[in-house]
Amino acid sequence: MMNFQDFRQQFRQLYSNEPRLFSAPGRVNLIGEHTDYNDGFVLPMAIDRRTVVAMAPRNDGRVRCLSTEFDEQIEFELKADLKPAHDWANHVRGVAACLLRDEYNLRGADLLIASEVPLGAGLSSSAALEIAVGYGLLKLAEHLVDPVRLALAAQKAEHEFAGTQCGVMDQFIACLAREGHALKIDCRTLEYEAVPVDLSDARVVVVNSMVKHELASSEYNQRRAECEEAVRRLAGHLPGIQSLRDVELEEFDQWADALPEPIRRRANHVITENARTLAAVEALQLGQLSHFGKLMKASHESLREDYQVSCRELDLLVEIAGRHSAVYGARMTGGGFGGCTVNLVKADEVESFMAETAEAYRWVIGIQPEIYVCQASGAVREENQ
Ligand code: GLA
Repeated sequence: MMNFQDFRQQFRQLYSNEPRLFSAPGRVNLIGEHTDYNDGFVLPMAIDRRTVVAMAPRNDGRVRCLSTEFDEQIEFELKADLKPAHDWANHVRGVAACLLRDEYNLRGADLLIASEVPLGAGLSSSAALEIAVGYGLLKLAEHLVDPVRLALAAQKAEHEFAGTQCGVMDQFIACLAREGHALKIDCRTLEYEAVPVDLSDARVVVVNSMVKHELASSEYNQRRAECEEAVRRLAGHLPGIQSLRDVELEEFDQWADALPEPIRRRANHVITENARTLAAVEALQLGQLSHFGKLMKASHESLREDYQVSCRELDLLVEIAGRHSAVYGARMTGGGFGGCTVNLVKADEVESFMAETAEAYRWVIGIQPEIYVCQASGAVREENQ
């Protein structure tokens, strides 16, 4: 856990000013992968690793940013027509620009950023950064924060400033997470329901493969385009559908053969994943962890075979987990092509799971994975300590 007193002190030394601290969580998605941009269902949980931003207002409409991760200081003027740049502060620029365009007046600010969310590991470090900064900028300008509006502005920032046509899941959970709960989100209506992650005898364990393959962003955008193509083609048989969310499994079975590959497989993943996600919510509510675990396993297989966003390292981690008697289920989590797996593990065997997973993975891949036992954490907030 970060020491907030030290962090405040670091800020004072840098900027000779007293900061306010804002933090937003990373997330792990329990199930519902690549469904959010298809108007579908997701079940993410905020994790107890946060991005923290220390901020103090400025009077000249400029933003200065420093990060404990990068040496370079970035400075820019706050204006709605800010353009993307190729540096680490793009997410800061993006969320500031999108809030301005959403007609919020903002004040300039000095920022110091630190993150406990591992960067580029598929745990949404960028959404945590966008949301912590966006929330802080709104607070410094004395706005009331509308969490859904903030999530949508940050999603737009990701589209325009990072070039990934992402869904809303990551930004939404950072804004609306509830401690001790996962969030079932209907990504069409943005209705959500907090589902208790009340796992007295189980733990959510995230294993970081420590690899990130190139092309993740272009492959992501391509998958999105393939889903849109599936909708266009299916609409010829199923008039009125707007997205894959609108296609029932039975209907799909009837028309699947009309789709060329790989469009058919992509659609098959999304349609079955939506059904699995709704079933998983029910299983979690009923405490049926074995059933939940089976759905996780099926989700991974579908992501590997049909959606083709897994990779050797993630498949290996899931396979290792599948051999361990303490594991209810395991799957890749997030966009894929590297990053993390999420594992539901019996509480009293977490230690042996961690040791055996690390050893088996290192043996084959030659890399030591990082492993995080995660608690369901709360949404973006001001830290007053
Ligand atoms: C990334 C995106 C999300 C979502 C997942 C896949 O994390 O940011 O919007 O699409 O991939 O489920």
